[in-house]
Amino acid sequence: MTAFRLSTLARSLRPSATLAVSARAKAMRAEGRTVYDLSAGEPDARPPEPVRRAVAQRVETEPMGYAPVPGLPELRAAAARDLAAFHRREIDPAEIVVTCGAKQALANLFRVALEPGDRVVLAAPYWVSYPAMVRLAGGEPVVVETRAADGFRLEPDALAEVLDGRVRLVVLNSPANPTGVGLDVETLRRIAEVVDRKAPEAWIVTDDIYRKITYDGFEATSAFVAAPGFERIVAVDGVSKSHAMTGYRVGFLYGPPEVVRAVSAVQGQTTSGAATPSQIGAVAALSDPACAEALSRMNATFARRRGLALERLGRLPGATLVPPDGAFYLFLDVSAHCGSNARFEDDVALATWLLEEYGVACVPGTPFGHPGGLRLSFAAADEVLDAAFDAMETAFARIVGAGA
Ligand SMILES: Cc1ncc(COP(=O)(O)O)c(C=O)c1O
Repeated sequence: MTAFRLSTLARSLRPSATLAVSARAKAMRAEGRTVYDLSAGEPDARPPEPVRRAVAQRVETEPMGYAPVPGLPELRAAAARDLAAFHRREIDPAEIVVTCGAKQALANLFRVALEPGDRVVLAAPYWVSYPAMVRLAGGEPVVVETRAADGFRLEPDALAEVLDGRVRLVVLNSPANPTGVGLDVETLRRIAEVVDRKAPEAWIVTDDIYRKITYDGFEATSAFVAAPGFERIVAVDGVSKSHAMTGYRVGFLYGPPEVVRAVSAVQGQTTSGAATPSQIGAVAALSDPACAEALSRMNATFARRRGLALERLGRLPGATLVPPDGAFYLFLDVSAHCGSNARFEDDVALATWLLEEYGVACVPGTPFGHPGGLRLSFAAADEVLDAAFDAMETAFARIVGAGA
């Protein structure tokens, strides 16, 4: 039989590294091994009760037809209200398109924005899916490195060096996956200023998916607020992380009507609108006051676990970390243990060893564009975190020769 010939594009794609680690962790569990899974990019909680109730009620009582492609009017209105409060400006529901998760908002935005070879600037460490999504849309990712020593913050001067007329989009993610680092008002202002000066045609895309999960007084700021007068911004948002609704697949994009219409047109010809029951849940997530209270409780839990993680992981020999401003990840710099003179060839080898020998599943930094790192999620039960940190202590003591 003639083998199916995959397209060049399909052959260039790699499965998501984070999902690959989770899959290996699940397979080990199925073999009966104990695994502490700190690899997942999602909260371990259920969505707030009003979300579950709204979905169940609707499923029981009404037919579940297609939603309008750009989203249910009540969800576009609820998202417009929520985003208006964050961006501190009037937002019309017509400027919002509801998508199947923030991921689809970004993927469709890249498709409607990029011509072949157009450049998209990403700050490393970046979310694993950005480069793949840019390439799928025919664009070319351009990476600006950030350093642990600068708190993994994108330096406007470093950004300036890659900006020119070929850059179409600059992606900002604050707080970020995988570092949890947020951009302060002044940095955002300087970034907008440098984009205006060096790439006056380029647009900023803000991925604000973690903006509601923040710590230690850090508050995520809208780029519109930080850089008044700079209007070339498209903002991507959603309920996946903030409301523990990753599996519901609802996100949204806020942008000029022509962008919203184009994204909606791509969606209409590919997936259709986001799942109707999920949109009903998202309306409750954004409108029911009890959900705001549930968010505060979830965030308090994350904050406690973050404290535990900082204390325990901060003590590991040869590992350094930058305390996250938001999200639920810690990005450990373990480069001291990687390389030709070190115990492990690279971070992938170290992460594989941690999983196979100690049952701790975390994601190596390489797929995030930052070799020598490890991303750990602290959105896990306290007992799992405790056991995982015990195991990591033993593992790192062994790496430096102080343990068995
Ligand atoms: C930075 C970032 N943006 C977007 C997403 C995707 O969000 P959603 O699940 O709503 O598609 C993720 C999920 O991991 C993420 O980490």
